[in-house]
Amino acid sequence: MKTLKSVFIGSAIMFLSISMVAQPKPWVVPANFKSMKNPIAVSDASTAAGQALYVKTCAACHGKTGLGDGPKAKSLKTAPGDFLKAESQNQTDGEHFYKTKTGRGDMPKYEGKMSDDDIWNVVNFIRSLKK
Ligand code: HEC
Repeated sequence: MKTLKSVFIGSAIMFLSISMVAQPKPWVVPANFKSMKNPIAVSDASTAAGQALYVKTCAACHGKTGLGDGPKAKSLKTAPGDFLKAESQNQTDGEHFYKTKTGRGDMPKYEGKMSDDDIWNVVNFIRSLKK
């Protein structure tokens, strides 16, 4: 009995530590970015421009529909997340903008590779993704 119990506790600890490693760390966005106003109004033109960029640049990891299931996703150390989930949709436009601009770990930094206007267009496209 005693060994069975320790095997159980041992696997519970192992499971806990594995799931803790796999959990993404909270990504803290500076207040000035968090409250930043999106300068590009939502329109069909902006969403279409954002979609074109998204398909070309982001879908490999984030997936065509934003579920985080792109062909590259499985080879990443961190999961790209699901843009359709409330945790993602509830973030401000400024938070998405900041994360896209600065990157972290497997998420590339797009500062210097994409203009601010293009990043906002992609933000508008990500916002339009619905279940
Ligand atoms: C090489 C794979 C890869 C590509 C390409 C990529 N991402 Fe990511 N992205 C990630 C990963 C991995 C994360 C999670 C990073 C973390 O939490 O540390 C992430 C996270 C994000 C987040 C934060 C999500 C959240 O809910 O907090 C946003 C926003 C984002 N990416 C936008 C983009 C945009 C826009 C593009 C294209 C311009 C893009 N990404 C391209 C891998 C990628």
